[in-house]
Amino acid sequence: MKIGVVGLGYVGLVTAVCLASHSSFDVIGVDVDSRRVSILQSATSPVKETGLDKLLAKVRLAQRFSATSDFGDLITCDVIFLTVGTPSGNDGSVDLNDLSEAARNVGSVIANQSKENAIVIKSTVPPGTTRNIIRTIIKQASNKKMEEESSIVSNPEFLAEGSAMKNFLEPDRIVIGVQDERGARLMRNLYSEFYGRDFQKIPYIETSIENAELIKYASNYFLSLKVSFINEISRICETLEHSSVDAIASGIGFDPRIGSQFLKAGPGWGGSCFRKDILGLINYAKNHNLDLPVLLGNLSTNDIQRRHVVEILSNRVGDLGGKKIGVLGLTFKANTDDIRDSQAFAIVSELRKRNVRVCVYDPVAMGKFREECNEEIECAKDIEECVSGADGVIVLTDWKEFKKLDSNFFSAHMKGGTLIDTRRMYNKDDFKGAGFAYIALGVND
Ligand code: UGA
Repeated sequence: MKIGVVGLGYVGLVTAVCLASHSSFDVIGVDVDSRRVSILQSATSPVKETGLDKLLAKVRLAQRFSATSDFGDLITCDVIFLTVGTPSGNDGSVDLNDLSEAARNVGSVIANQSKENAIVIKSTVPPGTTRNIIRTIIKQASNKKMEEESSIVSNPEFLAEGSAMKNFLEPDRIVIGVQDERGARLMRNLYSEFYGRDFQKIPYIETSIENAELIKYASNYFLSLKVSFINEISRICETLEHSSVDAIASGIGFDPRIGSQFLKAGPGWGGSCFRKDILGLINYAKNHNLDLPVLLGNLSTNDIQRRHVVEILSNRVGDLGGKKIGVLGLTFKANTDDIRDSQAFAIVSELRKRNVRVCVYDPVAMGKFREECNEEIECAKDIEECVSGADGVIVLTDWKEFKKLDSNFFSAHMKGGTLIDTRRMYNKDDFKGAGFAYIALGVND
């Protein structure tokens, strides 16, 4: 089967390379960014994702994956995935410009195609977009009789950065939104070929296009809500003696109706998807006159949690003006180089409002953070420089480099003060007698 993937970012590239790892598929990746295409032509990945470089080299060697900027190369494809980014517009609406342009280009190519095909939308789009906007664009550009000659499908992705390859190769479900039997059959053929007979018992959900689109939003809404929920519980724990949020998470997580995952309190959720998708849903609600207070609350709880990290510090240290505070960890979680909607931006800006001398360090994202942070900051060359002489340190991500540190390290380099551990990585007993306060977020003992 010949497969096209349009848009070679995190999602597109992982999709393309994983599909190409199966000997039945030839995959053509298309991206308008010619720099990205030339990096790929040299068989290195322009995005950092565990296992991606290795599999990319393998599929390039087997000649089952090629990258191009020429949409015309898609002419031979049976199935074309659109994995173009759908960022937030300034008003929280979803910016569909790139996706619409890609759909137009694909439509013009399939206009000259004689075999049956399916165009599969993997980009996250507000419910109703695939049928009402993307299908219309493809129909106009291709002049095809949709559903008779060409099918449109929604197939949302559930890839988390850092484990995206595993999430693709061993998914917990496959969701297919489709409106005609031919499109449904093409997708069943593709995924049963890839995963094996009966999709190896992976739940395979065939539903309407609109349901598939909403399943994606609802998933991210619920996951982020779980994190916001536990962050609120975490703040309750901090007011209660002998209390620890991880004990509460474990106590409730055994209830299968609740589940134990996504109950790790921290400095609030970040990343390229949660805020964008929640804003997208808020915008959808506004356009449909829906009052969704839980959705709005999720966002404000997250903003409060980010500010709360600085509150803990200032409650401890007092006036933060002129003090040096080290911030360790600038990506939105460990094991990614992504700083999109990273908690660090909000926390640094909150510190700067209080005239703090902020010194930051991250093992992979220093360059990007320096470029994108609008605040006056010092960028340390290593962990030691970041914490040296600091009156306080905030650890924001659980990078393994940070986990290795201990009380001796901090007391040898910090001026004194307070260490805030937002991910509860260290053993508090180790800090007894260290000469400064160790505060684990969500713990009060
Ligand atoms: C998220 C979803 O997990 C994926 O299923 C989804 O496909 C993806 O968005 C997307 O829409 O593309 P991702 O943004 O990579 O994936 O990151 P997550 O692992 O979900 O973490 C998001 C944020 O929540 C991070 O800042 C993380 O530190 C925080 N988090 C997560 C917690 O604070 N506590 C937890 O228990 C879990």
